[in-house]
Amino acid sequence: MSTESPKPVRRITVPQIAARKGGDPIVALTSYHAHTAAIVDRHAEVILVGDSLGMVMHGMESTVGVPLDLMIMHGKAVVRGTRRALVVVDMPFGSYEESPGVAFRNAAKVMKETRCGAVKLEGGARMAETIRFLTERGIPVMAHIGLTPQSSHVMGGFKTQGRDETSWPAHEADAQAVAEAGAFAVVLEGMVEPLAARITRQVAIPTIGIGASVDCDGQILVLEDMLGLNPRPPRFVKVYGQLGGMIEAAVQSYAADVRARSFPTDSEVYR
Ligand code: KIV
Repeated sequence: MSTESPKPVRRITVPQIAARKGGDPIVALTSYHAHTAAIVDRHAEVILVGDSLGMVMHGMESTVGVPLDLMIMHGKAVVRGTRRALVVVDMPFGSYEESPGVAFRNAAKVMKETRCGAVKLEGGARMAETIRFLTERGIPVMAHIGLTPQSSHVMGGFKTQGRDETSWPAHEADAQAVAEAGAFAVVLEGMVEPLAARITRQVAIPTIGIGASVDCDGQILVLEDMLGLNPRPPRFVKVYGQLGGMIEAAVQSYAADVRARSFPTDSEVYR
C-alpha cells in the first residue's frame, strides 16, 4: 500500500477567473472524462463539461437531445479526475429556460451531485433574470452568447453571428445584460472577429472566445476537435494533434498482432 498522501485539491476559484479580465489569457478546454481531464487539468484554468458531449461522445446530431443526467455523469468523472482547474458544467437544453426556479433546482442538482464549481447556460438578455436568480442564490454562472447551439433550430443551423452589422447592438446588449446580471464570464461563440473584440472591450467580465477573436480574455476549444479526432472540425479549430490517425494505426497494429498470434507474448501473460 502506498504511504504517500494524495495531492490536495486546490482549485482555481470563480473570483480568480473573474479577476483575469484584461490580464493573462484564460486557457479553457472541454473535457468529458477522467483521464483526459487529468491531462487538461495540468494546463488549463477552466475545464468545461460541455453539452457538445452529446455529439462528441454519444453520436447525437445536435446538443438538443442531451439529458441532465448525462451532464451529471460526465461532470462527476471530470471532477474526480481533476484537482486544480475550475470545472464548469453545461446546463442542457430544457433544464433552465422555463423559469428561474426550474433553473435553480436543476443547477443546484448539478452542483451537488458533480461538485463542480459553476454552471454554464446559453442566452443573453432573455436569460439575465435567471442568471441573477442563480448567482444571488450561490450558483456561479458562465454565460454563452453569439452562436448558441441549443437554439440552432431557431437560428436555422450553426450560423456565424454578427455578419450583418445591424445585429451588433443586440449582441452587445446580450453581453452587457449577462454581465450586469452577475455572470462571472461569458463565452462568445461563432461571432465575427470585430464584434467579439468590441464586446471584450465593453464588458467588465472575461470573454472566452470560440470562433471569435484573439482579443478575447480567454479561449476555449472542444478537446476532441483540437486533438484531431473530429474528421470535419469547424473552420475556427486549430488542430494541435493527430490522435485520429494515431488511434487508427494502433488499432490496426493490434488487429494484425491478434490475427498473427503475436499478441500476447511471454511478457503479457501470467506463467
Ligand atoms: O458544449 C460545448 O462544448 C460548449 C463550448 C463550445 C463552449 O459550449
